[in-house]
Amino acid sequence: MSRMPLPYNPKVLELFRNPKNLGKMEDATIVAVAGNPACGDMITFYLKISDQDIIEKASFESYGCAANIATASIVTEMIKGMKLEDAWNITWKSVAEAVGGLPSIKFHCGILAVGALKRAIRAYYRNKGLFPNWLPGELSFEEKQALEEEELARILSKRMRTEE
Ligand code: FES
Repeated sequence: MSRMPLPYNPKVLELFRNPKNLGKMEDATIVAVAGNPACGDMITFYLKISDQDIIEKASFESYGCAANIATASIVTEMIKGMKLEDAWNITWKSVAEAVGGLPSIKFHCGILAVGALKRAIRAYYRNKGLFPNWLPGELSFEEKQALEEEELARILSKRMRTEE
């Protein structure tokens, strides 16, 4: 049986083949991970943040699919030079739009990328012991989804181990 290729648009494919800002950042101010290594869908975000809370540099590592790599890559481009408050307001929908749209079964891949970004922003303030008034106490949609995926992956990998 042959598998149907996913209907990725050319922009997603281009970003997947030539991702921008891919790789570890040695001098990152904050690092955040979303996803689960057990199922392979894992993303790490590195941010270098100035004293004025501006993102000077952003990079990522991804073990996810083409949609995950493309969305993470475009997020790192979008947030460069942004204030953390503005970067926080980026949603997975705006990211999906920025890559020219995603097949619906790939929405979660973009959500995971934005979830990792929001975790990084939250962790940055938590480490500093600061709680800016624009940062909601409740988890954002993308952070919640990332948690759900991680939980699901944990259950699946446990099940696989017990079935071995
Ligand atoms: Fe899991 Fe895309 S990151 S399928």
